[in-house]
Amino acid sequence: MISFLLIFVLIIIYFFFKWSFFYSSLPKGKLLPPGSMGWPYFGETLQLYSQNPNSFFSTRQQRYGDIFKTHILGCPCVMISRPEAAKMVLVTHDHLFKPTYPPSKENMIGHNALFFHQGPYHSHLRKMVQSSFLPCALKESVPRIENLVIDMLPKFVDKTINTLCEMKKYAFDVAIISAFGINTEVEIEQIKQLYRILEKGYNSMPLNVPGTPFYKAMKARKLLNEKLSKLIGKERKSKKAAGTGGLLEVLLGSDQAERSDSKLTDSQIADNIIGVIFAAHDTTASVMTWVLMYLHDNIDVLEAVAREQEGIRCRISEENRNLTWDDTRLMPLTSRVFQETLRSASILSFTFREAVEDVEFEGHFIPKGWKVLPLFRSIHHSAALFPHPSKFDPSRFEVAPRPNSYMPFGKGVHSCPGSELAKLETLILLHHLTTTYRWKVISSHSGTHYGPFPVPKGGLPIVLSPICRT
Ligand code: HEM
Ligand SMILES: *[C@@H]1O[C@H](CO)[C@@H](O)[C@H](O)[C@H]1NC(C)=O
Repeated sequence: MISFLLIFVLIIIYFFFKWSFFYSSLPKGKLLPPGSMGWPYFGETLQLYSQNPNSFFSTRQQRYGDIFKTHILGCPCVMISRPEAAKMVLVTHDHLFKPTYPPSKENMIGHNALFFHQGPYHSHLRKMVQSSFLPCALKESVPRIENLVIDMLPKFVDKTINTLCEMKKYAFDVAIISAFGINTEVEIEQIKQLYRILEKGYNSMPLNVPGTPFYKAMKARKLLNEKLSKLIGKERKSKKAAGTGGLLEVLLGSDQAERSDSKLTDSQIADNIIGVIFAAHDTTASVMTWVLMYLHDNIDVLEAVAREQEGIRCRISEENRNLTWDDTRLMPLTSRVFQETLRSASILSFTFREAVEDVEFEGHFIPKGWKVLPLFRSIHHSAALFPHPSKFDPSRFEVAPRPNSYMPFGKGVHSCPGSELAKLETLILLHHLTTTYRWKVISSHSGTHYGPFPVPKGGLPIVLSPICRT
């Protein structure tokens, strides 16, 4: 009892000093945003991870407003849920806020990946990555993505499948196609296997001792570098462009640039290939899992999507051809289902930036080194911006959302270059799924699992059955 009291008193003292430190180090007349810093070190981490993040954000937003401070995993943070303020951080004042990730994640993906950089190196890389995901580049990949879907769906019939697991496999294969094109070198298969080990460790405790998933992942990461270097070496030697398409070819193409300083090294190429595959597949897999759940729960929407897709199917079969990029541009309702799913599920609840210097921000003071988190989910679930936010209602996108209020792919120089690919693979999946099958959700538990992207609990087990055509 005494020791308990002692600890309690010590904590109070620590707490007091911590607070007085925060305030004494503030320049005169500057005010931090309102909010509670919670307990020392742990801050409000427990509160964030032990409850639905929606309620963590909304209780604080109600108490303190759209901009408030808190303390997560040892870092003082400012959370932002006003669209205009989020735009300032991500777009108009982006030079004051650099991207920031936990060191363990940066080690695993590789320091040269574009996520971690600001300035000329970032924009040089970003141009290349973007060019490989423009519509003209994606067009070419439609038949190959469609083949993945046509091969995959019949395997699901009449047995229980875990939607999330299957969507991960599909999105991973799409990511591999967009990274390597039609390249069929032996290294690709080995790269795929190593990547799966890497992925298992990515969200585990960053404990680098033999036997842990993290340790295995770091080892796989090293091997992955070797395999990729070998592949890159082969491609470089062959001198002429391999003509395989895909991001790898674009990144190697920087060889031909006149300025030799823009030439990328092997590890710059490897880190970015690994990074893009990372960014591309778990995100998209979560979104597609949510799409299947929302369509299952909203039968009218499902029937409307099925009618739209059936119209396209009829036209394609009359013209005796396969699905094309242009067909995917004529799916307005299905596209709104994709948009509404991104809003409703908001799989990237927020992103992280760090103030690179002391910043004055809408009357608030943000000290250098503090994290700044634009809360996409709170913005997407604001009743003022999206009436009845918890209702799944694709028709709300019949009119364009208010500027800066809808940012499932972020905003500004770091916004997602893969948004069109994510949409394309979802549309191609829905085309075949809704015209050929119906599915039942086999799940007693409802709710959301955060791992780390929100997904329906249990990964949404479903049973698929073919539609009877009369
Ligand atoms: C529906 C699926 C996806 C969602 C919701 C999503 C969301 C996002 C968001 C919000 C960001 C910005 C992060 C920030 O500002 O801190 C981002 C960045 C990024 N995404 Fe996606 N993404 C998706 C799919 C993809 C795909 C398919 C690719 C493949 C090309 C991709 C590649 C990237 C890359 C490379 C970045 C970093 C860009 C930079 O730092 O310049 N993402 N994504
Ligand atoms: C459609 O795709 C299938 C499967 O890849 C292929 O065998 C067939 O030749 C394609 N049809 C046309 C008209 O391109």
